Order: sequence, then structure tokens, then C-alpha cells
Amino acid sequence: MSILVTGGAGYIGSHTVKQLLREGFKVVIFDNFSSGKEELIVGGQVIKGDLRNREKIKEVLASFPIEAVIHFASLIQVGESYQNPQKYYHHNLVTSLNLLEAMLENKIMKFIFSSSAAVYGLPKKIPIPENHPLSPANPYGQTKFFVETMLQDYSRAYGLQFISLRYFNAAGADPEGQLGEMHEPETHLIPNILLTLLGKKEKFYLYGTDFPTPDGTAIRDYIHVTDLATAHVQALKKLLHQEIHADFINLGTNKGYSVLEVIRQAEEVTGLKLNYLPRPRRQGDVPILLASREKAEKKLDWLLNHSDLSTIIKTAWEWHQKVSF
Ligand SMILES: NC(=O)c1ccc[n+]([C@@H]2O[C@H](COP(=O)([O-])OP(=O)(O)OC[C@H]3O[C@@H](n4cnc5c(N)ncnc54)[C@H](O)[C@@H]3O)[C@@H](O)[C@H]2O)c1
Repeated sequence: MSILVTGGAGYIGSHTVKQLLREGFKVVIFDNFSSGKEELIVGGQVIKGDLRNREKIKEVLASFPIEAVIHFASLIQVGESYQNPQKYYHHNLVTSLNLLEAMLENKIMKFIFSSSAAVYGLPKKIPIPENHPLSPANPYGQTKFFVETMLQDYSRAYGLQFISLRYFNAAGADPEGQLGEMHEPETHLIPNILLTLLGKKEKFYLYGTDFPTPDGTAIRDYIHVTDLATAHVQALKKLLHQEIHADFINLGTNKGYSVLEVIRQAEEVTGLKLNYLPRPRRQGDVPILLASREKAEKKLDWLLNHSDLSTIIKTAWEWHQKVSF
């Protein structure tokens, strides 16, 4: 039996594929390579296809012995989702609908979903527990919320077993140097700082210096991508071996760093000085996002091994210095 990984050629997907293979799982990657890269394929069988094509994903699920699906494939830019919500509903919602339909047709009933802290919107409580009210503040977050709603309905009506993993800020790179982050355009903080320090980006804009935080910059919860990958393997093992029907689990550290703290840490790791340009806050940016990680530790037997800020930045720095694609 194999595990289907949609978006397995992307940042978080590729790190998860690496761990799945290491744990002895057979993997089928389904990716349209819109943002995924050949260079991030470390093994498994690769099928090039787009989840918007319902017949294609049905054909794949009918021809491989798939036991469970891990669904990473999605568009991920919050800003773009404001400008072009239709694109996000097609790419993130229709794709998930197609995938679930193909799964039901082939009686594949185990599903892990890449959700996001974006489902919570403006937090009423910090750290954010999983039972916090859901009120996404942007179309990207809405698409994640709608898929979660669909999953609950499918679980109740058809017996789908799922775990929705709500990631906070994924960061860092494979400690063995094989994989890392490379989005185009890059909208994430740490790669943007490092690419500017390397001279691969001209300017670094610091969005928001008047948040109600100690230094005025936004505080986020950064989780190392390898720890995220481990959480997926743990979630998969639980789905395969335990009677889990429906669960929502945060993946974060419960520790936050402001943008200025991240810049300082990056300067320390690299020995370089960042010149940044302050800019107004971006639409929908909240002052502080921190995950409660109690549930993940308890339910997934999951421990953080790489998620201190210094390891996150060191691994990302090694990756960005050597990567040329
Ligand atoms: N990076 C983060 O900090 C973060 C935080 C919260 C949630 N997430 C979620 O994690 C998942 C992975 O994010 P990532 O940072 O690895 O993104 P990524 O862009 O690196 O990976 C997405 C992958 O999906 C593929 N893909 C996109 N649309 C597709 C389609 N229609 N059909 C087939 N393949 C398609 C892309 O080619 C790419 O390989 C996404 O669902 C994202 O919403 C990411």
C-alpha cells in the first residue's frame, strides 16, 4: 500500500516525503509543479497532474493501491488571495473537492489536510487552542476553513477519517541540506531576510512597526519544517493504526518572535547587517499569533527537535547559500 502526497514537490511536502520514505512508506507524489520543483523530489513515484482535473486524480487513485492521502497542494499567498479570490477558490477548494470525490469513489478513507493558523483570524486568546472560534480574515484562510467544514461533513456522512493540521509559520530547511524553501515570489519572512543578506533580493520591507507588541513589530510562531514533517508521519501512523475519525491539531511551538527579533537572530547567524525599509502594515496582518501545542504533543506523541529560532535560521541559511535554482 502507498501514501498519496499531493504537493509533494513543494516545500513542506518534500520534507514530509523524505521522512515517509525513511520510515519505509511507499509514496506516490501528485503535483502540477506550479510551485513545486524537480530538485525537491527525493524519491517515490511522481505523477505530474493538476488537481483541478477531476478525471486525472480519479485515474491515479484507481490505479495505485493508496491507503491514505496527505494533501499539501494549494496556493499559499494571502495577499494574492485578496486580489484574486476566484483563483484561490478554484485552486484550494475545487481541488480538494475533486480529491475527496476521487477518494470516496476508490474507498480511500484516511486523509491528512494542510490547514493553517489563518482559519482563526484575529485571535481572542493567546496561545490559540484548537477550539478557538474560527473566523478567517482573508480568502486564503477561508479556503482552508471551507475544506475543514467539508471534511467534517464527509466524516459524519461517509465515514472519512481525517486529521487537519493547522500550521503556524513553517520555516527552516532540511538539516541534511538536501531540501529547503524556494517560493516564487517569496512572501515569507525568514527566506526574504536571508535572500536580502545574500544580495539575491534588493530590498527588505518590514511591514508594520506600530503593532501593539513590545517592539512594534508582529510576533509569529515559527515551526521548523522538519518538525512539521515528523508531525505528519505521526498523524499518519495514528490514522492507520487508531480509530481517529476527525481531529484538528495545531502545529506550532507556543513561542513567538517579533520581526525585529528574527532580524537580529539572522544577523547573528550570518554575521551580516540587514538594511530594512519600514512599511505600513499589510491588510489582515494581526499583531500576534501563537499556537497552543498541548494537543499536538498529547495526540501525536510529537516533540519539537529543530524549532528553536537559531536552528531554523542556520538550516535556512545553509540552504539559501548553496541553492541555485
Ligand atoms: N508555508 C507555510 O508557512 C504554511 C503555513 C500554513 C499552511 N501551509 C499549507 O501547507 C501546504 C504546503 O505549503 P508549502 O509552503 O509547502 O507550499 P508550496 O507552494 O511549496 O507547495 C505546494 C505544492 O502544491 C503543488 N500544487 C499547487 N496547486 C496544485 C494543483 N492544483 N494540483 C497539483 N499540485 C498543485 C505545487 O506545485 C507545490 O509543489 C499548503 O497547503 C499551505 O496552504 C503552509
